[in-house]
Amino acid sequence: MPALKVTAPAKTILFGEHAVVYGHPAIAIPVNQLKTTITIQPNPWGASNQITIHAPDIGLSTALEELPNQHPFSTAFSVVMQHLGMTTYPACTVKINSTIPIASGLGSSASLSVALIKAFSQFAGADLPSQTLIDLSFQLETIYHGTPSGIDNSVIALNQGILFQKGKPVQALNSAKPLPIVIANSGVAGNTKQAVAGVRESWQHNKPYFDALFQKIGSTTWEALQALENGDEIRLGQLMNSNHRDLQTLRVSHPKIDRLVETALKHDALGAKLCGGGLGGNMICLIHAEQAGEIQKALMQAGAAQTYLTQVESREI
Ligand code: PMV
Repeated sequence: MPALKVTAPAKTILFGEHAVVYGHPAIAIPVNQLKTTITIQPNPWGASNQITIHAPDIGLSTALEELPNQHPFSTAFSVVMQHLGMTTYPACTVKINSTIPIASGLGSSASLSVALIKAFSQFAGADLPSQTLIDLSFQLETIYHGTPSGIDNSVIALNQGILFQKGKPVQALNSAKPLPIVIANSGVAGNTKQAVAGVRESWQHNKPYFDALFQKIGSTTWEALQALENGDEIRLGQLMNSNHRDLQTLRVSHPKIDRLVETALKHDALGAKLCGGGLGGNMICLIHAEQAGEIQKALMQAGAAQTYLTQVESREI
C-alpha cells in the first residue's frame, strides 16, 4: 500500500440556505483556499487493524480503537469498512489537518467527513464514485447534525459549484464568467443546529407565512441561477441582498454579520449576505476583482476575524 494524501475543500452557500431544508433549491461553491488534508502512511510492521490517528489541530494522538464508537474518525472508518465489506484493514498512521474554521458556515464538518471517507477507502484500494462519496458522507452528517439537507457534503464531494435540491439530481453551476467573492468570518461562533431548530420552531408557529418566505428564497435562488448563467453580476448582487433580508427575517443573522454586510455594501460590493446556518459564522460579498483589497481591509476594520478571497467558477460534473 503506497502512502496517500487526500484533501477536501471548504464550501460556502451563495443562495438558499435554510429554505433548502424545506425542499427549495440552493447554490453552493467549494472554497479551495481552505481545506481538510489527510495523509495515510502504511505501517508494514504493524498488525492488521492497528491504526494510529494524529490530529494535531485538536491535540489528538491515539490508536483508532481507543476512540469512542461515536467519534467522527471511528464512524467514518466503520462506514467505509461496512461499505467495502472489509473486516481487516492494513496497519497505518492517519494524519488529519484542517485549515477550515469550525462553527463558521464553511462546511468544516462535511469537509472532514468527505476527506475521511475518501482517505479510508482509497487507502484500501477503492476509488469510490462521487455519488457513493456523497451518500456515505451524508450518513456521517446525519449522525452529527440530525437533519442536514445534504448540500454541504455534495458540494464538497464534487468539488464544484452546484445547484442543490433535496431528492433531485445535483446540477452543475454554469457561471458565464468567474465571479470574485470575499468571505469574512465574524469571529462569532455560528450554530447551524440551533439555527435550523429555531427556524423549524418559527415555521411550526406559522406555516403559511414561513412557507411563503421559503418559496420567496427559492425563487431568488432560481433567478440567481439565471443571472450566473448570463454573467449578470449586478442582478446577482441585488439577489444576494434580498436573500440576506430574508435570512434576517428568519432571525438567523447576527448583529456582527449585519455590520459586515453593511460595510461591504458601503464599499460598493455588488451584494452581500450571511452564508450557512448563521447566528454568527461568515458572510460573503460579490465584488469586482479590483475591489478585493479595499473591501477585505474594510471588513477587517469593521471587526472581521479573517477574510478570504475566492471565486465562482464553472466546471463540468
Ligand atoms: O452552517 P452550514 O455551513 O453547515 O450550512 C447549513 C445550511 C443549512 O441550509 C442552514 C442547513 C442544511 O442542512 O442545509
